[in-house]
Amino acid sequence: MKLLVIGSGGREHALAWRLAQSPRVHKVFVAPGNGGTQRGSLQNVALTQAEELADFVQREGVTLTVVGPEAPLAAGVVDVFRARGLKIFGPTKAAAQLESSKDYAKAFMVRHNIPTARYQTFTDPAAAHAYIDEQGAPIVVKADGLAAGKGVVVAMTLDEAHAAVDAMLGDGSLGSAGARVVIEECLEGEEASFIVMVDGRNVLALATSQDHKRLQDGDQGPNTGGMGAYSPAPVVTPELHHRIMREVILPTVQGMARDGLPYTGFLYAGLMIAPGDDPDRPIKVLEFNCRMGDPETQPIMMRIKSDLVDVVEHAIAGTLDRAEIVWDRRTALGVVLAAHNYPGTPRTGDVIAGLPDDAADCMVFHAATRSEDGHIKTSGGRVLCVTALGDSVRMARERVYETVDRIVFDGRQYRTDIGWRALKRSPAKPKPAA
Ligand code: AMP
Ligand code: GLY
Repeated sequence: MKLLVIGSGGREHALAWRLAQSPRVHKVFVAPGNGGTQRGSLQNVALTQAEELADFVQREGVTLTVVGPEAPLAAGVVDVFRARGLKIFGPTKAAAQLESSKDYAKAFMVRHNIPTARYQTFTDPAAAHAYIDEQGAPIVVKADGLAAGKGVVVAMTLDEAHAAVDAMLGDGSLGSAGARVVIEECLEGEEASFIVMVDGRNVLALATSQDHKRLQDGDQGPNTGGMGAYSPAPVVTPELHHRIMREVILPTVQGMARDGLPYTGFLYAGLMIAPGDDPDRPIKVLEFNCRMGDPETQPIMMRIKSDLVDVVEHAIAGTLDRAEIVWDRRTALGVVLAAHNYPGTPRTGDVIAGLPDDAADCMVFHAATRSEDGHIKTSGGRVLCVTALGDSVRMARERVYETVDRIVFDGRQYRTDIGWRALKRSPAKPKPAA
């Protein structure tokens, strides 16, 4: 069969690569794809509009479509495909509001008793400034709409918080995405990414993972889309896994169904787990995403041993209760290589040398690359994600950095400490869930 993956990042390369391993698949189209999704059974298609993609799927006889990023979901690609009777895995435009409107997500969580940081929503700058003065710093200012990872300011001082409000509500720095802001309590603890597949009713949890959002080692520097990730995340013990399902995931899926917007697709809960070892310590939702994480997907895909196409088919058919995923018990770890000046405006067009061949235990997933004049060149901020499996975090990490050392392009930036939290946890600590 033929499949389509919508998107062009490292997440989509990893999804397409894993789907293509199915013995039932002979072609995976990636729209629009990148310099790495144009080889073997992967093939790029230069389309991005929902109607054109649906035409393509009908013309080519594509059996099913998986959507990677949030933008096409928020624009309603699932609604367009379903109206034509085409099989697609993702949430409808209305359900994707869990990500595309922070205010919607916060009100939803309050309505359904899902734990999250205390907040208020504002359109009026004066009221927002007054709330910040009343609450004090640190405090978090978030643009309501999609802002490609630039919509959250974790303000350590009142000045920073006021400046964020001025930029979003006053200067319109984020356009309509920032015309409303959510201001919320700053939470402390350790973040984890909890990603599940949902068919409207049933839930299948994917392996746990942890991202590294800051640009530099030691979690310093500006926020990014994510500079590296690993799976499993030891912070999520089996007990916490159980609590996250009971306190966050199931109430969310049931709440969406009760609200008349049954959720289908990948659902990503970004969580803050309060510090300490108390099994009852608070777990709060920082955000929902209506898609998989990038770069979390890359290590997660490395660990899937089952046929992912079977699982997606169950998810589309509403029979996820009959699906299961067998996980490689090894750790997978991915390190992002970013372009010069990322996360500001990245320089593009740098030639990439030293890319290795694919190996079963080490893959270089492409993100912002393009193939030009016989070279692979950088074409955006997060360029590659080198991802490897190992018997321990340490071994996965060694394998990754050996490969990272051989890949060269001008202005290359990467973190040298991906996985530090997992390494810090002693092996005597409880084993992670999956
Ligand atoms: P979000 O897009 O909402 O996940 O925010 C991006 C990043 O900002 C998160 O991964 C956290 O590192 C940080 N963040 C968001 N909300 C909070 C909060 N309430 N307290 C502390 N950090 C936060
Ligand atoms: N890596 C975080 C995200 O995909 O939202």
